[in-house]
Amino acid sequence: MKRTVEEHAARFDEYASDYDDGQDSEEYRACAGLVIEHARSALEPGDTLLDLGCGTGAIGLALASDAERVVGRDVSEGMMEQAREKAAADGIDNAQFGYGAFREPDYDDAVDVVSSNFAMHHLADDEKRETVDTIAAFGPRTFVLGDVMFFGEPDPSEPFYDPSVDDPATVGVLADALTDAGFALTAVERVADQVGVLVASRTDRATRASPGRCVIRLYADVPGARRIPSRFRHANARRIESRKYEPRLPELPPRLRDGAPTRASP
Ligand SMILES: C[S@@+](CC[C@H](N)C(=O)[O-])C[C@H]1O[C@@H](n2cnc3c(N)ncnc32)[C@H](O)[C@@H]1O
Repeated sequence: MKRTVEEHAARFDEYASDYDDGQDSEEYRACAGLVIEHARSALEPGDTLLDLGCGTGAIGLALASDAERVVGRDVSEGMMEQAREKAAADGIDNAQFGYGAFREPDYDDAVDVVSSNFAMHHLADDEKRETVDTIAAFGPRTFVLGDVMFFGEPDPSEPFYDPSVDDPATVGVLADALTDAGFALTAVERVADQVGVLVASRTDRATRASPGRCVIRLYADVPGARRIPSRFRHANARRIESRKYEPRLPELPPRLRDGAPTRASP
């Protein structure tokens, strides 16, 4: 980790009230939309969703009506205060947000589905591996991870990757961590060269997805999209779909729809 947990928390506390307005990029919205879509299809009645690095609640609040209970964990009180305010404004009463770090989420109840969007890239690779092991110990059916991740060569000039604060992994490192922890990769969504969504299902719990089959979806219009990192090949990949893929983008907050949005690094 290039900053301490406390430094990340302070950075996001400062930025919290403007955070939602800054998340207008197509890549962020596509990533969040896919995380929501995959987590929604994994959730069953009575389920608990644990959203790690929950921030202002983009994922958890969108899924509150699909789960019995949503538990958001983050290290930034400022970000979670925004989430709580949005939950109250929308009349959502089954979502709770509290302090918890990736490797110490401070939660010990049952979890069925875990999600995380645009947050794990703050950790170093060995810390991401510890996080995946922590998540696996909860025994969820499915873990949906959307994040900054490298499908090709790292490019520090990308707006999603600031080497002074971010530490994204290659997709291969994440695939290894997930499969070593007992997950099977059931979908890989390449949103852009440095943004993707991985869906991992426990091999020892019944899932609607069938472990051993992995769908890899690519934007056909992303340059180099046909290059599949060789480390996918041992990650249970059986089927590769290369086609123009149109993820459903989540709605922008109303004040952004008509205004002139600005991009902020996540
Ligand atoms: C870019 S925001 C993403 C928020 C939200 N998931 C979203 O999709 O909008 C990253 C979040 O990760 C949180 N974070 C950073 N390091 C963390 C850690 N070690 N444990 C838990 N959360 C962390 C930050 O406080 C911040 O809220």
